[in-house]
Amino acid sequence: MFDDIVGQLAAHFELTLEREVRSYSSDELAERLAPLDGALVTLNERIGAAEIGSAGNLRAIANVGVGYNNLDLEALSAAGIVATNTPDVLTETTADFGFALLMATARRITEAEAFVREGRWRAWSFTTLLGADLHGSTLGILGLGRIGRAIARRARGFGMRVVYHNRSRLTPALEAELGASWLGFDDLLSASDHLVLVLPYTPASHHLIDARALARMKPTATLVNIARGGIVDELALADALAHGRLAGAGLDVFEGEPRVRPELLALKNLVLTPHIGSASLATRRAMVQLAVDNLIAAMGVGPNAGHPPSILNADALKAAGTGAAVAGAKNTTASKR
Ligand code: GLV
Repeated sequence: MFDDIVGQLAAHFELTLEREVRSYSSDELAERLAPLDGALVTLNERIGAAEIGSAGNLRAIANVGVGYNNLDLEALSAAGIVATNTPDVLTETTADFGFALLMATARRITEAEAFVREGRWRAWSFTTLLGADLHGSTLGILGLGRIGRAIARRARGFGMRVVYHNRSRLTPALEAELGASWLGFDDLLSASDHLVLVLPYTPASHHLIDARALARMKPTATLVNIARGGIVDELALADALAHGRLAGAGLDVFEGEPRVRPELLALKNLVLTPHIGSASLATRRAMVQLAVDNLIAAMGVGPNAGHPPSILNADALKAAGTGAAVAGAKNTTASKR
């Protein structure tokens, strides 16, 4: 992360820093969390009952990321541990990236670059690397939350028709402002020339885009996933892309990331990026700053003591009685990696 931002924690806590960026096993996480009072974590760390079992003093976990499927909120709340995430600060950057991935996929940018680099460009040809237009096409957005809405605003500038599906519809006023029309899930699949996935990953959205869903999409359509890999059945997607039942896909997230299935790596009509949706320097700094602010406040100190700006489980804050925690805060330990 950024030492100048994470270092702000040292004004309140004794810090233990895990500098190695890798996947920690459940046992390793449990061992590291055991002596801590608070922790700053990323989406690499899956934290639930097993990982907090020996962490008797743990009061707060600040996730650096808006998605928090890595945290078992029920287990954390039951243990009186406050959880926070980093919404809003990454919305526009992630929407920019969603659009970049959509354009790269529709216009086959990575395939085209490989074509040039590999010396396969022999003559200008009328039919080289023909792609799909964005302008005049229908953009489907699955999950019209903060990032989905920012993508919808960009789509209007590109002259696209925007349709969306959420379990609950937006107000007519918001639909009008965004120029977005609600469709049922199956209708969204069949209407979209380009479909962007921006919904949270929950048990209900696991493999939502499966063989059945893909079969409803146009064979000329593109699919972009900037949410979580587990929303897509990757083998069904690879099969659809390999057999011309879907024109192209852009994936920034993968079910077993950082591992990417060989079936996906073998495909040319797939743009692959390593989960970098929010990765502009300014936004990654803003995310770490928000996580640090959340952690300090959740631990009951600093200017927002007891009121973390983006709390996920307010019930835990009440249960933990953070006001009382202020007295013990000087001797506490927070961790980051
Ligand atoms: C990144 O995927 C995030 O959830 O912030």
